[in-house]
Amino acid sequence: MKKIKFIVIAGTRPNFIKIAPLFKELKKHKDIKSVLINTEQHYDFKMAQSFFADLGIPKPDYNLGVHSGTHGEQTAKAMVKIEQVFIKEKPDLAILVGDVNSTLAGALAAVKLHIKIAHIEAGQRSFDRQMPEEINRMIVDRISDIFLAATKKDVENLMHEGIERKRIFFTGNIMTDALFDTLATAKAREKEILKKIDVEPGNYALMTIHRANNTDVKKNLKDILLAAKEISKKIKIIFPVHPRCIKMIKKFHLENIIKNNPNLVVIPPVSYIEMAALLSQAKLVLTDSGGLQHETSVLNIPCLTIKKTTEWPITVEKGTNIVVGNDAKKIINEAFEIINGKGKKGGKIEKWDGKASQRIVKILKEKYNE
Ligand code: UD1
Repeated sequence: MKKIKFIVIAGTRPNFIKIAPLFKELKKHKDIKSVLINTEQHYDFKMAQSFFADLGIPKPDYNLGVHSGTHGEQTAKAMVKIEQVFIKEKPDLAILVGDVNSTLAGALAAVKLHIKIAHIEAGQRSFDRQMPEEINRMIVDRISDIFLAATKKDVENLMHEGIERKRIFFTGNIMTDALFDTLATAKAREKEILKKIDVEPGNYALMTIHRANNTDVKKNLKDILLAAKEISKKIKIIFPVHPRCIKMIKKFHLENIIKNNPNLVVIPPVSYIEMAALLSQAKLVLTDSGGLQHETSVLNIPCLTIKKTTEWPITVEKGTNIVVGNDAKKIINEAFEIINGKGKKGGKIEKWDGKASQRIVKILKEKYNE
């Protein structure tokens, strides 16, 4: 019997997290052959390979060596190389996740070769066109065939943009599957991980910053670091720093703000298991990451999103998220509220239950050739 052939494209840290539960589920279906392309948009061990080990992702069939560059360079390089793989493999379906440049490149390469596209996390919108990710999301959803949405709001967004309802499926959040799959391991290693970083459970904040608008605009980055310095007077902050962020801190000569402060601890990017452990015991999270916005809501940890908009409005409505923008005063005030015990409490979010990948693979099998 001829197997159905799916090609999955990943390239960045958040992509790797999303494809882990997908592959775990795909493996159960003997009639599907899954091919994995890693564009290697992220290539440092701590940003990429460590996630394959932690999450049990299979070895990629193709590593494309795309690495860094301008948006044009990165997207074009990925597109050329993905196209070559598509021509050779002739898949029945291309499966794309999220909103990064590798996702856009995969979608453009597929559509021109008349290969059907399934998009996981379809319909997410921040309505902020300054964000490169928003442009990627809009274009990928314009040319996809099967739309797998994490929230009902994302379904509405797609319908509003004219996508036929019958092509849209409300499957829940696949990143929650990855988190649930990892929590037990993280719990078992929690003591050791917290000890290594020298923090007490429940008594520290966790901060991550990497969005272009926060890192590449000097005033914004400076304000965020000054806010962190102020907050660190009341609570220890652990700051696993993204390569983009540390590069810009050095470029703008802002090292002084974070230097020699035992309460503002800058560490290299952490692995997924380390992050899950750190997250579970944090008093609060300060972030511009999409992933952390929903992981904090799932774990009921107060989160301050350092961006003007969110692509995850459900985490504000139902979860623990507050969007604070990048104004230092607002960040500090909201952080102090949480430290003083007035953190936002969240509730359950529909279909963020660890079963999204099961629903997704079922739909892909039923719909890939419609
Ligand atoms: C990308 C995604 C973003 C996602 C983020 C998660 C796009 C447009 N952006 O942003 O949506 O939330 O990944 O991390 O696709 N770098 C390294 N080592 C690495 C990876 C990157 O040093 O392993 C450096 C690069 O040299 C580059 C910078 O970090 O200068 C940014 O990398 P890039 O992949 O362009 O974007 P991210 O900021 O990581």
